[in-house]
Amino acid sequence: MLIIDQPTQLHAEIKKLKQQGKTIALVATMGMLHTGHIKLVEAGLQKANIVIVSIFVNSMQFNNANDLENYPKTEDSDCKLLKEAGVYCVFKPSNEIIYPRGIDAQTYVEVPGISNTLEGKLRPGHFRGVSTIINKLFNLVQPDYACFGRKDFQQLIIIQQMVNDLNIPIEIIPVETQRESSGLAMSSRNNNLNENERNKAPFLSAVMNELSIKVKKNITPHEQLIKTASKRLNNYGFKTDVLYIIDSSTLKPVTPNTKEIAVLMAAFLGETRLIDNQIVQM
Ligand code: PAF
Repeated sequence: MLIIDQPTQLHAEIKKLKQQGKTIALVATMGMLHTGHIKLVEAGLQKANIVIVSIFVNSMQFNNANDLENYPKTEDSDCKLLKEAGVYCVFKPSNEIIYPRGIDAQTYVEVPGISNTLEGKLRPGHFRGVSTIINKLFNLVQPDYACFGRKDFQQLIIIQQMVNDLNIPIEIIPVETQRESSGLAMSSRNNNLNENERNKAPFLSAVMNELSIKVKKNITPHEQLIKTASKRLNNYGFKTDVLYIIDSSTLKPVTPNTKEIAVLMAAFLGETRLIDNQIVQM
């Protein structure tokens, strides 16, 4: 497995691969890899001849300096996992290479509207940081496909919209959320939970499933369903942060025309904010 940190070297490698007629899938990560990331790699390998994984902790998408500072680096174990998964190349550029003029001077890409609602409202600038780095990685890696998990639902919708709006010739491959046998969605953040919190964490998906079943049965009003679910989470020891029942394509309130509903939730267990979501076909 190649490990590249210089864009010039990456460029030469990509040129060679394209001349050989190889197709490329990109899996963008911030490291701290787990089975969920490996599923993204597997999805990429199903589509393309070659998978390139980027590892870059993107300062532009953090709005809390502490979060960025404390973001763990697990490069050796990450590379070991990726090699075993059949990844061709890891691209791990430095911050100076990606943002040579600093993040404040960086030209950015922002998908209007949907970047500033839901999670974007709570984390101003976060999705601008995500769409900018993804655009840069698309230009650097020039993949045919790019795989993103459905767990970060809003991120996926925003990237798909950016690709449509800017006519980027890359097919976005959505990949199902990977869950532990308890139902808990896999996430790098699960590592931050202590034993007691870890035991409680699966209740998030349990409450989400209950709520989704009620939504599917057309039980209303949604405000009341949200209140009940929040209460249940709080009784289990969570501190519910947000809980939305929205139209999955507009990210706005459900209307009689809504075909697909997204149930999105975020709740704290101690200091750790866990997120999960479920799509309900109507
Ligand atoms: O989902 C993530 O890990 C990040 O937001 C991404 C897509 C790698 C962009 O930095």
